[in-house]
Amino acid sequence: MAKILVIGSMNMDLVVETERYPEEGETLIGGKFEQIPGGKGANQALAAAKLGDQVEFIGACGDDSFAPKLKSSLKAGGAEIDNIFEIKGVSTGVAVITVDKKGNNRIIVSPGANYELDPEKIEKIKDKIAEAEIILLQLEIPVDTIEKIVEIASKNKTKIILDPAPAQKLPADILTRVDYLLPNEGELDLLLAEAENKSRLEKIEALLKMGVKNIIVTEGEKGIYYYSQNKELHLETLKVKAVDTTAAGDVFAGAFAASLIAENNLKKALEFAVQAAAYSVTKRGAQSSIPDKKELNEFLAERSK
Ligand code: RIB
Repeated sequence: MAKILVIGSMNMDLVVETERYPEEGETLIGGKFEQIPGGKGANQALAAAKLGDQVEFIGACGDDSFAPKLKSSLKAGGAEIDNIFEIKGVSTGVAVITVDKKGNNRIIVSPGANYELDPEKIEKIKDKIAEAEIILLQLEIPVDTIEKIVEIASKNKTKIILDPAPAQKLPADILTRVDYLLPNEGELDLLLAEAENKSRLEKIEALLKMGVKNIIVTEGEKGIYYYSQNKELHLETLKVKAVDTTAAGDVFAGAFAASLIAENNLKKALEFAVQAAAYSVTKRGAQSSIPDKKELNEFLAERSK
């Protein structure tokens, strides 16, 4: 039985390196092209599986050539994949990604089968949600599906971690049930559209008042800010030479869930997540940048020399 259940997207990432971005109407010759397994859901499941254990990923794929490659990547990293829905005649999710010289990315997702993961399919796996200790969610599947998952999880006291990416406004009946909300600055702004002109602290206060129990705001190089009703923390990020920031947030979320289950210690889980995300930034791609425990320990040992 999975302790961590990740329900979300799986995408094949079509990645091109570029020196700069094209102007409208311009054709630009880029650098190397690679197909790399990705998708925020699958990335987070793989990170949790490689850095922890008893992780299952539930998602939807098409019946094309991308699907088996994405499944193999998850399986190789130790995630259970017995409940991935295969949708006939629909493309597996795809992300078109450009990465520039500084390691920054621009991503367009074509959701394909990810948007076929509807509430009816969630009904079929509701026992898994009820039995899991933690459910880890992102926003690359339909919002009504997220609502259904959150409703089942909260009824059964399964802890809910939500990474609200890609950024969008969410209904209160989702937000009020979230145990750990992991927005970056942009996502925090969009979550509460009515609070757009408010300060970060005012937005946080509004979310805590709504019932979100723990809020972890990732602010790139400025670090990680944690808030609950009675506690605040700030953690520095590790300084690394960025090669590719794709999926750093996913590695953070997966590592955070893995450590929270293993140690039940919030500060340790945040520190572990910061370390794993820093590792991922030094490697190219999404799932290709996720460390296992040994790789992460070697990376940390090398830094401390
Ligand atoms: O967070 C990175 C991920 O976003 C990529 O792997 C891509 O598939 C998109 O989902």
